Amino acid sequence: MPGVEPLRLDVTDPESIAAAASVAGDATLVINNAGISTHTHLTDGDIGNIRLEMETHFFGSLGVTRAFAPVLAANGGGGFLNVLSLLSWLHVPDYGAYSAAKAAAWAMTNVARLELAPKGIQVTGLHVGYLDTDMADYVAPADKIDPAEVAALALDAVEAGLTEVLADERSRQVKQNLLATP
Ligand SMILES: NC(=O)c1ccc[n+]([C@@H]2O[C@H](COP(=O)([O-])OP(=O)(O)OC[C@H]3O[C@@H](n4cnc5c(N)ncnc54)[C@H](OP(=O)(O)O)[C@@H]3O)[C@@H](O)[C@H]2O)c1
Repeated sequence: MPGVEPLRLDVTDPESIAAAASVAGDATLVINNAGISTHTHLTDGDIGNIRLEMETHFFGSLGVTRAFAPVLAANGGGGFLNVLSLLSWLHVPDYGAYSAAKAAAWAMTNVARLELAPKGIQVTGLHVGYLDTDMADYVAPADKIDPAEVAALALDAVEAGLTEVLADERSRQVKQNLLATP
């Protein structure tokens, strides 16, 4: 695609993050989209999977944020768009490791927004239910939303300066129910 320059990036590898930030010195918008879903129970599942989910969703997004914040600031501000989930708020066993990692990434998103605002950097959180991607290939088509639709919605939200995007009815319902007893 014209104008697109792919970069190699492993968000679990600090050296890889630093290399990407040094190459992409003209960045004005960074999308923390990398994710995995291992379907691991927290109390008896593989601890390696639990750590990997945390390394990817929480430490990975945090590492990218820390590395790219000076780049964005030097370019006049810009923003981060963090791809989260309704599972940042809805916590069930089959998604234990994922939910914990997305909840941590949500907290990071909210703190980073406040910490980076004085530098003119905006941080937007995107929450969604099932997206029609490889990660949700086991989900019935009718239960998934088109990722292109969500991407357009999210970019409009970034342009409008919104802090949080609830991309579908499921994520809106889950957020509304946060006051309920778990
Ligand atoms: N699918 C859903 O239903 C759903 C719902 C809510 C939120 N989300 C979130 O949406 C985001 C995108 O997921 P998806 O649905 O597109 O899943 P996907 O089809 O499995 O794609 C995941 C992407 O993350 C990349 N990735 C994984 N580990 C990485 C790492 N260590 N460093 C850099 N990139 C890495 C993968 O790169 P490679 O292909 O190179 O491995 C791939 O491009 C994730 O944050 C996910 O948690 C997904």
